[in-house]
Amino acid sequence: MSIEQLAETAQAMVAAGKGIIAIDESTTTIAKRFQGVGIENTEENRRAYRELLLTTPKLSDYISGAILFDETLRQSTKDGVPFAKYMADHGIIPGIKVDKGTHALAGCPGEVVTEGLDGLRDRLKEYYKLGARFAKWRAVITIGEDIPSGTCIEANAHALARYAALCQECGLVPMVEPEVLMDGDHNIEVCYEVTEAVLRSLFGALYEQNVLLEGTILKASMVIAGKDCEEQADVDEVAESTVMCLKSTVPAILPGVVFLSGGQTDEQSTAHLNAMNQLGNLPWPLSFSYGRAMQQAALKLWSQDLTGNFAKAQAVVYERAKENGLAALGKWEG
Ligand code: 13P
Repeated sequence: MSIEQLAETAQAMVAAGKGIIAIDESTTTIAKRFQGVGIENTEENRRAYRELLLTTPKLSDYISGAILFDETLRQSTKDGVPFAKYMADHGIIPGIKVDKGTHALAGCPGEVVTEGLDGLRDRLKEYYKLGARFAKWRAVITIGEDIPSGTCIEANAHALARYAALCQECGLVPMVEPEVLMDGDHNIEVCYEVTEAVLRSLFGALYEQNVLLEGTILKASMVIAGKDCEEQADVDEVAESTVMCLKSTVPAILPGVVFLSGGQTDEQSTAHLNAMNQLGNLPWPLSFSYGRAMQQAALKLWSQDLTGNFAKAQAVVYERAKENGLAALGKWEG
């Protein structure tokens, strides 16, 4: 795979005014989301729900790609069209979550490392054949008393870099996601320091593993106060801190940065992205790769009437895509 092809895919993922919809919940995570709204977690319900999302009319107006879970990449629409083919035919780049989740990091109480490197090359080759053109790996960094440790930050950065190098070898654009969790009562300054250390370590590791940044996308968490912090920063402070942190750590050659929503409300996630883009003068496009902030309103509506609300829920997905697409241009009006 040539770097030109990887770079082309990466640029298409962050095309102006477009972002990614993350629908790569594992079977256990989607169980929690379904349980929250009273939907039974069966394979058919998961398939039908992903069909609802992926076949939203005109989704590609604001969505460049979607991240799927392994099961979804192997499923089809009710008319028998494989989701990956449906997506490619409708201008949505298929992506795949390839990590195997987090596990306790030995010797580091309260911290986790993401696993899934064993056998990854063969899985990536298969995912490419199934139509995936980018992949996601999520590392999780927790802020708490005396954590994160340097050991945890480095172990996760190393794994992300090994994964990214394998992706590029197999023709997939790596979306590297080091998520600094919003859980906790830390303030925004602490989040800034941790995010800065995490990104420095990540880009050091990517360099060590010969990862070509022109064919890589960063999926970042915003610099934001912990959920239980009494002093919540306002929208402008989150936007300014996040952009400053990224500018000081992320090389300008990267094709783009997309954000996760991480537990922010729909409105917060859109307002923060919009405010960042209004700052202007950015070295890379800043867009979204939201899971919950793209889906939660639609899921709730669908759960009330799986057949009757199918099209209405799709209209909600389209509306959220549009709002975030406008925010990616700094043109969302609230
Ligand atoms: P959220 O936007 O719900 O945080 O999910 C994005 C994601 O893909 C996390 O890995």
